[in-house]
Amino acid sequence: MLVKPGDPDAVEQLFNDVAPRYDRLNDLLSLGLHRQWKRQLLAWLQPQVGERWIDLCCGTGDLALSLARVVRPSGVVVGLDAAAAPLELAEQRRALEPWLDVEWLHADALKTGLPGASFDGLVMAYGLRNLADPVVGFQEMRRLLKPGGRAGVLDFNRLPEASWSAAFQRLYLRRIVVPAAALADLEPQYAYLEDSLKCFATGPEQEAMAREAGFQKARHRPLVAGQMGLLLLEN
Ligand SMILES: C[S@@+](CC[C@H](N)C(=O)[O-])C[C@H]1O[C@@H](n2cnc3c(N)ncnc32)[C@H](O)[C@@H]1O
Repeated sequence: MLVKPGDPDAVEQLFNDVAPRYDRLNDLLSLGLHRQWKRQLLAWLQPQVGERWIDLCCGTGDLALSLARVVRPSGVVVGLDAAAAPLELAEQRRALEPWLDVEWLHADALKTGLPGASFDGLVMAYGLRNLADPVVGFQEMRRLLKPGGRAGVLDFNRLPEASWSAAFQRLYLRRIVVPAAALADLEPQYAYLEDSLKCFATGPEQEAMAREAGFQKARHRPLVAGQMGLLLLEN
């Protein structure tokens, strides 16, 4: 199965297929470092007790659950994803901590159907690259946030084609990620990563799109020697 980046049905199918092995592969392929990057994201965003947050493209719920631990007992978190299988796993994880208040929503991040100005903060990790239209994604993010609300978008960083960092990224994806995924029978699904990165916006392009969508502040920061990128936004 070859997945075309930006094709919502194919992307949904891909993440339904990957879901049972997603967390283990994520830990293995990042050597557990994705947890550190997500902690960094939350450290920059500073969610507070009692706030309302949304995790768009939440997958199996890493960030939604972390947020729920911080904003409890009076805060609320919504975890939203277009694929049903990761959401089922997310709810199984939440059930291990039944005191956490998370509502899972099976919906499209481009058209959530949620009321506007209803969240203090928003996160999206490894989701932006998969959206059919990132500009519409930024518009929906901005619509969901209260005035002054903040958002953080974590993803791979699109590097200049001819740079050493880009060469390292390609090597990592082709020689480590895809062969490891092949062992789990998920080769085409992980080959999609490099394809989706090829048409992904650079950090400055993401900043420009977010400002165009109306965000007051948009700053993209490289992480891990530029391999990952974190876009910090303020409404
Ligand atoms: C790479 S996973 C990231 C999951 C999680 N945020 C994490 O960091 O582990 C990308 C997720 O985005 C979801 N996704 C892709 N396009 C989406 C869309 N248009 N609306 C909502 N979710 C979407 C996929 O179903 C998948 O679960």
